[in-house]
Amino acid sequence: MPLARLPLPLFAALALLLPAVPAAAGEPTPIKVGLFASLTGKEAAFGQATRKGVELAVEELNAAGGVLGRRFELVIEDNQSKAGESATIAKKLIARDKVVALIGEVASSRSLEAAPIAQQSRVPMISPSSTNPKVTEIGNYVFRVCFIDPFQGVGDAKFARQSLKLQRVALLTSVSSAYSVGLAKYFREHFTAAGGTVALEQKYSEGDKDFKAQLTAIKAAGVEGIFIPGYYTEAALICKQARELGLKLPLFGGDGWEAPQLLEIGGAAVEGTYYSTHYSSEDRSPAVQGFVERFKRRWNGDAPDAMAALGHDAVLVLADGIRRAGGTEGPKLRDALAATRDVSGATGKTTLDAQRNATKAAVVITVKQGRFAFVESVAP
Ligand code: PHE
Repeated sequence: MPLARLPLPLFAALALLLPAVPAAAGEPTPIKVGLFASLTGKEAAFGQATRKGVELAVEELNAAGGVLGRRFELVIEDNQSKAGESATIAKKLIARDKVVALIGEVASSRSLEAAPIAQQSRVPMISPSSTNPKVTEIGNYVFRVCFIDPFQGVGDAKFARQSLKLQRVALLTSVSSAYSVGLAKYFREHFTAAGGTVALEQKYSEGDKDFKAQLTAIKAAGVEGIFIPGYYTEAALICKQARELGLKLPLFGGDGWEAPQLLEIGGAAVEGTYYSTHYSSEDRSPAVQGFVERFKRRWNGDAPDAMAALGHDAVLVLADGIRRAGGTEGPKLRDALAATRDVSGATGKTTLDAQRNATKAAVVITVKQGRFAFVESVAP
């Protein structure tokens, strides 16, 4: 009997047994990728820049036919820059959305929250820009496409000793940020080994707004510079309050300073400060300039920063891994990602080492006439 002549209830019952038809018939199922980021809240600049870089890379991949003939489909979740959200989000992306990989986070503390979920679920996680070494130590499903803080801290210490010629400095560290605590430690080790003195270390917590007590103690210690390994909101406020207290000495930090808000919040107080980061949009290399052009056109605006560049490159590394794995199955994709070599992107070539970290150059940026300007690059 032809299907159309079956009594309706029987037809419906049969239809339920049929496999679900993909939305666009004939089109291969998309490759679902989860992005979790601080799209709102205190570090919204991190999440938004990353999202733009990730989306640009995904759109370009899809326009070129996707990977293994399949399109990438992004599922994006916002952790609001809050602690305690990223593990839940990672679970949701894996269990509900069935993503084959996670991209995230920028802040090391939030990557550290999500990484154990990726590891247990055997779903690879690629952090674009978390630099604390512990992130990839969580397990062999956790990767990053950036350098780590033992390298960044050495670079910052060298810059302080050799370029700024500092002998005695103070540290102002955020104790509630894994990134800050780690970077302070690596800076101190190398600065001291290079003959400098860390006269004192003062502390704060994420979200603090008043740093006068710490800065007054630092002023009394008679140091020549302050290293502030924190994120842009607090770093900008610290610079402001330091200048208000009459501290005229060099103020400098790491990649956590990178955001237009550093200039907006800090104003004149951040003029002449320095920070290290992963890339400079002023780099004349064709790879960087091509990326800068495409990014500006796509987002109708400013040049991409390091988070955007690393977010973009994380997608390219994932796509390369899926291609070499011949599919998206967790363990196979993990093995392919672990063998990542020479994937060209906006931040240079990504090759992952045995600890699933990348080795890349750093750059030092200064604020000059209210704008970010390239100072020097630091070889790995
Ligand atoms: N490296 C920082 C962290 O681990 C995050 C960051 C990366 C911030 C790049 C700005 C630019 O927390």
